[in-house]
Amino acid sequence: MDLERMNDAARKFVTNVGLITSNGPIGDNIMSAEWTHHISYSPGHIMINLRSKSASTQNILETGEFGVNIAGDTQNVVTSVAGRGSGRDYNKIAILKELGVEFYRASNINVLMVKGAAMNVECKVIKHEVIGDHIAIVGEVVNSSAEENVQPLLFHGTRYFKLGEHIAKPDEKRMAEIDAIYDKNRKTQAT
Ligand SMILES: Cc1cc2nc3c(=O)[nH]c(=O)nc-3n(C[C@H](O)[C@H](O)[C@H](O)COP(=O)(O)O)c2cc1C
Repeated sequence: MDLERMNDAARKFVTNVGLITSNGPIGDNIMSAEWTHHISYSPGHIMINLRSKSASTQNILETGEFGVNIAGDTQNVVTSVAGRGSGRDYNKIAILKELGVEFYRASNINVLMVKGAAMNVECKVIKHEVIGDHIAIVGEVVNSSAEENVQPLLFHGTRYFKLGEHIAKPDEKRMAEIDAIYDKNRKTQAT
């Protein structure tokens, strides 16, 4: 069955917004991708899921590289502009520069990176595959940095949020009770 964007169940996810930068036949470009996932530590892999018709997809598949800039919680304008209109029709980098956003050239790949993002990661494509109505593109991390004082913007049910109240893990007493329940439910070892 389908799980459309406005479906009540689909709206329960909370994600980051990845500002995906690329440079290829379309020129320097940027798009927003809520489907930006860290999927391996060693080596570091990041997966993005993009529409095949996106200008970014064409850039990335032709050059084999892309930048992931995890939007900070004051970059709501950047994510909305990057996610509005195609790089085939608009120079979104120029639009953002006019709006005061600053970029720098990545060191290990030839794409622009967004200044002031919570995290900046340079990736080289190692795999891509059509999955459903998007293309899953997996990149290996070739350079990364993070801004200690910038918190990531959250995306939930088509709206942006900030990180809020910290929820404590279960305390020691509660964990001891849970441990006892674990013990009661231990599976017997196969002999
Ligand atoms: C907050 C936000 C999140 C988005 N997430 C995705 C996503 O995960 N995958 C995707 O293909 N498009 C996503 N989009 C839509 C693209 O950013 C949009 O289609 C963009 O115009 C594509 O640009 P391009 O054609 O220049 O690559 C998102 C848009 C916004 C505003």
